Order: sequence, then structure tokens, then C-alpha cells
Amino acid sequence: MYQSTIAGIGYYVPKNVYTNNDLTRFMDTSDEWIQERTGIKERRYADRLEETTTGMGVEAAKIAIERANTTAQDIDFIIFATLSPDYYFPGCAVLLQREMGMKEIGALDVRNQCSGFIYALSIADQFIKTGMYKNILVVGAEKQSFAIDYATRSRNVSVIFGDGAGAVVMQPTTEPGKGILSTHLHSDGAEAEKLALYYPGASAGKWLDKKPTLPEQELGGLFMTKEMLEDGSIFPHMDGQAVFKKAVVKFPEVIHEALSANNLLTTDIDLLVPHQANLRISQFIQKNLGLRDDQVFNNIEKYGNTTAASIPIALSEAWEQGKVKKGDLICLAAFGAGFTWGAALIRW
Ligand code: UT7
Repeated sequence: MYQSTIAGIGYYVPKNVYTNNDLTRFMDTSDEWIQERTGIKERRYADRLEETTTGMGVEAAKIAIERANTTAQDIDFIIFATLSPDYYFPGCAVLLQREMGMKEIGALDVRNQCSGFIYALSIADQFIKTGMYKNILVVGAEKQSFAIDYATRSRNVSVIFGDGAGAVVMQPTTEPGKGILSTHLHSDGAEAEKLALYYPGASAGKWLDKKPTLPEQELGGLFMTKEMLEDGSIFPHMDGQAVFKKAVVKFPEVIHEALSANNLLTTDIDLLVPHQANLRISQFIQKNLGLRDDQVFNNIEKYGNTTAASIPIALSEAWEQGKVKKGDLICLAAFGAGFTWGAALIRW
């Protein structure tokens, strides 16, 4: 069996910066509230017409591929994690295959929101371990700005999210002890509706208190109704406090699980790169695990919460800043909608 390693990493963020003060033009919020509750100062929004989730993924992928000393032609599998795909279907992985002129390789989309990148990394790890693929491109990218409700009714959701993309190229290594040591994936659907975008969808409100109304004789038509557009149920819904409470339990739990699976301790971690959900969540995890400031990497103040892109963007920035060095023990961890969560331990 091979081990898989991250051979190249890169990220891309759009150039449009929206500060907290900029958001006060659209909704009743303040820089003080956003910074105090989330640590976010600004976020990037993609160009409304020209930039796509796939396009941002392509930009990040080009850098990762170059840094892995390989070419788009040599990539043998694509895994693309996103909750904001260009189309309802087909997924972004196949659109990236087209945009990058890759061979007719397999292309898979992962729909696991904030933990999407960890899930994608874990899938890539399994394919490399078995020897099935040798050069897998894993992308996490989001264009959330196009689907956010900028009205005050959704201010708890809209102020935290941003756009961007990160990518890694995974390759096999036979160097002992190097690469992905283990990945740990979890889910609990009991509170699926606490953080969700209900429509367009096929549930017809099955699990929701408020069901869409339609004349009985109409078949179909529940995918998206005028009523859904008007009442805002086509926008993401989040019970922030419920998510926060679960996140601060599950993050430390899965990190401990990963460490104990490898007979390691929190003191062995050189850098924890948590999903950038909220700076307060990251600080809570750091305190809970007893980690020093230099053991945790955060960049949420600049980019907000970029969901599936947040870990590869943060890992890439940390690497560029020299904070990820050969031999370091890197821990990635995420929690989000589903709820789904996970962790990965990497010996760089
Ligand atoms: O990555 C995906 C997973 N998501 C997360 O991890 C998010 C986890 N949750 C959170 O980060 C926090 O719950 C939020 C930052 C989203 C919200 O913070 P909170 O302290 O839980 O606020 P809240 O939603 O309970 O609202 C508290 C108050 C309310 O006002 P009243 O009813 O007390 O008068 C809200 O209307 O704050 C108000 N509020 C705002 N005020 C100004 C909510 N959002 C805003 C806002 N600006 N943007």
C-alpha cells in the first residue's frame, strides 16, 4: 500500500473586497457586531457575471498543479467539494475537467459543505492508497455571494460567508511515516434543517414546519415557487447558536480521535488548520485543546467563512508563510451542515 501526500497546494480569492462597513449599505448590521461575534473584518465576493465556482477552482488548481511539478494532462482523477455549484447539475468537477482541457478522467462532486474538503481529501487518500490513481486533484471552491440574502432578515447568515477556492494535488509516496496519517469522517442528520438551503429541492417541506402551498391539481412545480422566492426560503437558513454549540463539542472530539488513532498528543500538533467557521469557534477549540497561538492558523478575518474552500485556502496561506514545513504534524478539522464533521492528520 502507498501513502498519499499533498504534492502541491494553491488558492485563489476574488479581488472584490467587501468590508463589514460595506455590508451596512444592504442590511442593518455593524462592523462592531460582526467583529465581536465572528472575528471577520472583510470577505471577497466573486465578480457577479464573469467568475464562477469552477473558474475559481481552476485558478487554485493551476497553482497546485504547478507546485506539484505536474501538468493538467497528468491528473488522473478530480474531486470537487462545493455547496455553491455552477449548475444544479452537472457538478463542478466535470466543468473543471472541460475548462482545464484534461483527459477523459473520472470527476466527482462532494456535497458535504464545510467538511467537504476533508471528505474529498479522505476519498483521494483511499484511491491513492490502493494504487488506483496517482495524481488526484482535490478542489474546494465556493461562490456563495450569488445566493446570499442581503436583507436584514438573513443578516446572521450573510455576514459570515465569502467566496474563494483552494486546491491540492495528491500523489503517492513510499517515504515512511509521510503524508496523510489518517482521516476521520462523521455525520448526524438529526439536525439537518438547522443549517440548510431547503429550496430548490425535492422535499416539498417534508421536514419543515412551513410547507409550500400549491393547487392540488398541479403536478410538480414544488422545485421553486413564487412563494419561496418571496418569503426567502430559497436562501440559506441557519440556527447559528445550535451550530455553534455542536461545533465546539465535535471539533475537539474528532481531533482527539485522530490523535489517539496515531498515538499522538495535542502537544505533537505543529499546526491546526480548522475550518474557518467563526473565529470564536477556533478560539474555543484552541483553548479546549490547550494549544498555543502559533499552533493554530486562522485567516477568517480576511476572507470570512468560505465553506469547502476555507481549509485549502488557509493551509495554502500557512504553507506560503512558511508555517507548514517538512516533517510537521498538520491537523485539519471541520464541522458544518448535515451535520457532518471530520479531521485529517498529515505528516508534511
Ligand atoms: O461553517 C458553517 C457552520 N456555521 C457556523 O459554524 C456558524 C456558527 N454560529 C455562529 O457563528 C453564530 O451563531 C453567528 C455568528 C452566526 C451568530 O451569532 P450569535 O451570537 O449566535 O447571534 P444570534 O443569531 O443568536 O443573534 C443574536 C442577536 C439577535 O438580536 P436580538 O434578537 O438579540 O435582538 C440577532 O438579530 O444578534 C442579532 N444579529 C445581528 N445583529 C447585527 C444577528 N446577526 C446580526 C448581524 N448584525 N449580522
